[in-house]
Amino acid sequence: MLDKVLLSDASLQEIDNELDKYPKDRRQSALLAALRIAQEEHNWLSDELIEYVAEVIGVPPVRAFEVATFYSMYDLKPVGRHKINVCTNISCMLRGCDQIVNYLQNKLGIGFGETTADGKFTLKEVECLAACAGAPMMQIGRDYYENLSPEKIDTILQALP
Ligand code: FES
Repeated sequence: MLDKVLLSDASLQEIDNELDKYPKDRRQSALLAALRIAQEEHNWLSDELIEYVAEVIGVPPVRAFEVATFYSMYDLKPVGRHKINVCTNISCMLRGCDQIVNYLQNKLGIGFGETTADGKFTLKEVECLAACAGAPMMQIGRDYYENLSPEKIDTILQALP
């Protein structure tokens, strides 16, 4: 029995649905999905929440920390309303992501891992997001934006609520 409940019934149900996809002795396989579900409810993954997810799944906390700290899609501190993931890997680097990064950092007045004062944008540096053909690229929420230029960035950011 869990001491404290940190997730809504809906999230716990969603995690149960994920667990149903795997054999009973492979509950750990649902960790990625469970952490994503927890993050979607809370905006970010605190240590307490990661431990809680591990407890829900029934694995040692270290297993959940390994996953949460490895993948860039997990946020270990609060993020803004729009998280901008900018790829700086090889294809994007060769296609001028430095200019894109500089432009975004100057425009928003923040560096990687930071959030604007109004809480609207968080800027994050990520590894290849498998959209190399459209380099340089960034991801905001679940959407990919490719072949970026400063003008294109202006249009994209302006359209976000
Ligand atoms: S290197 Fe940027 S998407 Fe692959």
